[in-house]
Amino acid sequence: MARVDRLLANLGYGSRREIAQLVQHKQVVFDGAPVKDPGAKVPITPDLPSRMTVVDKPVDPPAPLTILMHKPLDVVCSHKETGRSVYELLPRRWQARMPGLSTIGRLDKDTTGLLLITDDGPFLHRVISPKSHVAKRYLASLDRPLEGHEVEAFASGTLMLESETAPLAPARLEPIGSHSAHLTITEGRYHQVRRMFAAMGNHVVALHRDRIGALSLPADLEPGQWRILTADEQALIFS
Ligand code: URA
Repeated sequence: MARVDRLLANLGYGSRREIAQLVQHKQVVFDGAPVKDPGAKVPITPDLPSRMTVVDKPVDPPAPLTILMHKPLDVVCSHKETGRSVYELLPRRWQARMPGLSTIGRLDKDTTGLLLITDDGPFLHRVISPKSHVAKRYLASLDRPLEGHEVEAFASGTLMLESETAPLAPARLEPIGSHSAHLTITEGRYHQVRRMFAAMGNHVVALHRDRIGALSLPADLEPGQWRILTADEQALIFS
């Protein structure tokens, strides 16, 4: 159970004072009846948006919340980097949510595809932990033709990236044509895919992530679109 004013403040609806005013104006409705007191307690359950409205709209989903996004080109994954961020594609109010939302790993500004954003710390750590071995699949478009030795080099478990001291874990390369391939990796090193091809003397001209574990980017999700990840989809990540 949580106090309505604290719950809505943590969902980014405003200060507790502002929320008290919403309550006073009967703009917060729970189970069909206006909430009478900002200190009233309500159960925080996943079905909250079907039970509570704020100014006639379903309340935002409470934590834990995970978003599946089709990251478009030219947006960054960090709050700190300059430029438009993926968080700006979400409702503005969500930037004030507590706990805050973070991307699960990062995609470069010029990488597109499946991106997860969550306020669920344990889930985030489970996905990025090297112990989980969650596979991430990328579609890489290349400047030069594949030469044939890349599959073995990437699978070897001995490939070293420039200025690193530990070899890369084995990765699976599946050529699609002469200039494109799927590459599946289980680590998340800085610019890893681009640097792997650079180590082969090639250059990635376009990069798109289409799968995390057994979770694929939904075909009907256009670049820049997002939706809430379901529990079934969440489980696919680890299967
Ligand atoms: N590897 C890269 O080089 N860039 C990404 O965005 C993701 C993986």
